[in-house]
Amino acid sequence: MLRCDIITIFPDFFRETFAYGIIRRARAAGLVELEAHDLRRWTSDKHRIVDDRPFGGGEGMVLKPEPIFAAVRELTGAASRKDYASQTRVILLSPQGRVFTQAMAQDLSQQTSHIVLICGRYEGVDERVADELVTDEVSIGDYVLSGGEPAALVVIDALIRLLPGAVGNESSTTNESFTESLLDCPQYTRPPEFSGLKVPEVLLNGHHAEIARWRREAALKKTERNRPDLLK
Ligand code: ADE
Repeated sequence: MLRCDIITIFPDFFRETFAYGIIRRARAAGLVELEAHDLRRWTSDKHRIVDDRPFGGGEGMVLKPEPIFAAVRELTGAASRKDYASQTRVILLSPQGRVFTQAMAQDLSQQTSHIVLICGRYEGVDERVADELVTDEVSIGDYVLSGGEPAALVVIDALIRLLPGAVGNESSTTNESFTESLLDCPQYTRPPEFSGLKVPEVLLNGHHAEIARWRREAALKKTERNRPDLLK
């Protein structure tokens, strides 16, 4: 059982999405326990303030350290990174992080039993959070989101579908895109001809070796066209 705690100022953002598809099924099967926590729960002032102006000046607001420290300490039962249980990871979602990959998703799905995700907001998060609490600072790509919430969902989805038993057919997660630096091959389903558009003949003839060769070549062509960087 993987336990996953999300620290966010928008806990409702997650409620709907956790009720669909793979995530819903993994929860129902007891493979994962997910909870989105409102960061304001760990504030102690009347206005439940979670942000403040940046030292040194500049635009925007920065998430304050105190509520995040209180949240992570309560959820991990440890004062700082060096005291976490060996299978605990605290992940900060931010555009300054390491870019998330399938290899990172595989590593997380195999090495962890407790993940705490901190969703950044505004112009940033007080750096003492990254220095003291965070084991992995993760970005989902080279673009800037308004907050870490969509990124946390991306990480959770990629990771949960790799948990043994989450996807019906285990080989469907070992043969897929990125597992061997190649994109997935194109797929077709019925009807064999639609609006004058035909499914490649080879896929209809039942010759497994020919089909495997066609798929390999089609995957290579698609990778050359859309992601030449993967072939280097
Ligand atoms: N927060 C804002 N942009 C982000 C990104 N690209 N990845 C993760 N968290 C973010």
